[in-house]
Amino acid sequence: MIIGFGGVKGGVGKTTLAVNMAVMRSLKGRDILLVDADDQATASDFTAIRNETLETGAGYTAIKLHGSAVRSEVMRMVDKYDDIVIDVGGRDTAGQRAAMSIAHRLLVPFLPGSFDVWTLETVAELVEEAKAFNDHLMVYTVLNRADHVGQDNEEAASIALEIQGLQHLDTPLGNRKIFRNAGGMGLGVVEYRPKDKKAIAEISALYTALFA
Ligand SMILES: Nc1ncnc2c1ncn2[C@@H]1O[C@H](COP(=O)(O)OP(=O)(O)O)[C@@H](O)[C@H]1O
Ligand SMILES: [Mg+2]
Repeated sequence: MIIGFGGVKGGVGKTTLAVNMAVMRSLKGRDILLVDADDQATASDFTAIRNETLETGAGYTAIKLHGSAVRSEVMRMVDKYDDIVIDVGGRDTAGQRAAMSIAHRLLVPFLPGSFDVWTLETVAELVEEAKAFNDHLMVYTVLNRADHVGQDNEEAASIALEIQGLQHLDTPLGNRKIFRNAGGMGLGVVEYRPKDKKAIAEISALYTALFA
């Protein structure tokens, strides 16, 4: 399966969720290719830390791709891996369109707060264009960095639910320090010690929703 993490916003958790899914998938014994299609290269940095610090290495293969090569190179490698995870980046770029043209699934995280959730309309327009030549594409939204309290989570989720063409997953991830700390150490949330049971439950629910 080719699964992308994209959207048109930065700082919403695309890379965090992409690398966590790559780690969790590889821990299940699957042969994973992580494609870093974002020029900020955070997923590549995360992988480099893993290769330097973990005895077993990263546990998956990682490459950087840019623009239309995201499509051509991934298509060349699709049969060589069980799953290909693409960290697409947060703008309407050639790389984003290329990823949408080949992905089976695309996850678009968003933050609580209406400014952020309205950018999903722009994503929906891109998705509609991509679906014209990619029948496989299923696009999911998920609330990330959800507040502990307050109405913003529900408000944002209810807007996301209304947007045509995007399927909202009811598997929100809280705003938790462990997501930052684990990422900075090159670890998946499930690998970080001491364990944060709430964070592990959230990321596992997302994993199940995406890969079930
Ligand atoms: N659920 C979360 N709780 C707390 N911090 C988070 C969470 N998800 C992501 N972050 C942090 O937010 C910042 C942006 O996340 P990142 O994955 O780099 O976003 P993007 O790839 O969409 O630009 C990073 O510092 C990351 O550690
Ligand atoms: Mg990123």
